[in-house]
Amino acid sequence: MFAARRTASLFQKRAFSASAINASKVSVLGAAGGIGQPLSLLLKLNPRVSELALYDIRGGPGVAADLSHINTNSTVTGYNPDASGLRDCLEGSEIILIPAGVPRKPGMTRDDLFNTNASIVRDLAKAAAEAAPKAHVLVIANPVNSTVPIVAEVYKARNVYDPKRLFGVTTLDVVRASRFISQVQNTNPSGEAVPVSNHSSIAGQARDALVNRIQFGGDEVVKAKDGAGSATLSMAMAGARFAESLLRAAQGEKGVIEPTFVDSPLYKDQGIDFFASRVELGPNGVEKINSVGEINEYEQGLLDACLTDLKKNIQKGVDFVKANP
Ligand SMILES: NC(=O)c1ccc[n+]([C@@H]2O[C@H](COP(=O)([O-])OP(=O)(O)OC[C@H]3O[C@@H](n4cnc5c(N)ncnc54)[C@H](O)[C@@H]3O)[C@@H](O)[C@H]2O)c1
Repeated sequence: MFAARRTASLFQKRAFSASAINASKVSVLGAAGGIGQPLSLLLKLNPRVSELALYDIRGGPGVAADLSHINTNSTVTGYNPDASGLRDCLEGSEIILIPAGVPRKPGMTRDDLFNTNASIVRDLAKAAAEAAPKAHVLVIANPVNSTVPIVAEVYKARNVYDPKRLFGVTTLDVVRASRFISQVQNTNPSGEAVPVSNHSSIAGQARDALVNRIQFGGDEVVKAKDGAGSATLSMAMAGARFAESLLRAAQGEKGVIEPTFVDSPLYKDQGIDFFASRVELGPNGVEKINSVGEINEYEQGLLDACLTDLKKNIQKGVDFVKANP
């Protein structure tokens, strides 16, 4: 409760300093899940959100009724998968967050989720492309490297694809990196995406251990939850932070930068159409994609390994929609 109040006042401080606060409808698909519920709570506390629309295959109206008693100004409506539930939820949305899908169990990789989550994301994307084609779509459902290309293909097939408005939410990786680095350095978390190599005091084995912890931070949570799912609370915070950044940019704030997985020119010459880097956000979504900047040999090795896998992950999403339109 105390934490919730503090979060609300944090949002409020920022909101009051913004030049304009517009009405914004935000919808959450998969709102009754482990991520969906705390994410919806944080969005209910955000004064930039005027209307919260919550959809799930089960439990959406219950979560909405509960949140609607919180004394902030936004309205909250829950939707079931009946005839027009999903469409009504989506219509008029400025931002659509998609945490719908199954989470990992111990021993699973994100890619193991593909078979189930690919069709969930494809079907939700079809509905979004029809009901709210201009909304910003924020994909949380894993594997993000494949689910984001799935949304892109669905939108392309309907001639409504705007690469500036589609995002894979990778904020949690940076949130984790920021926290883990601060613990090693005994400093306050910066919240920024700063390469580990920039922290010159961290080297050798300590650096390797830190990089490994950041890369496999998700596994730490999956293991600790022992079959009950993956990160939900930290992910909800990361998703809410990304939505807040997008709303700040949409409402006129300049220089809002978040790391996110987007349609990107950076490695297109290698056949890789999406990449996560620091992206400046604006009223229409992606404003400027920053390159990875100067990196050392160690980081180049990590990047090379990543690009090989990433290309396959992206292709898997594209192929899925081709075979299962
Ligand atoms: N991007 C990231 O960094 C990150 C981090 C953690 C988890 N995740 C992913 O987020 C997803 C959700 O995780 P969770 O822990 O909230 O899972 P969960 O099982 O607790 O919740 C998922 C919710 O989605 C709903 N759902 C399923 N199919 C649906 C559909 N077709 N339409 C609408 N709702 C549907 C379920 O009813 C459930 O309420 C997983 O894919 C997980 O891997 C991503």
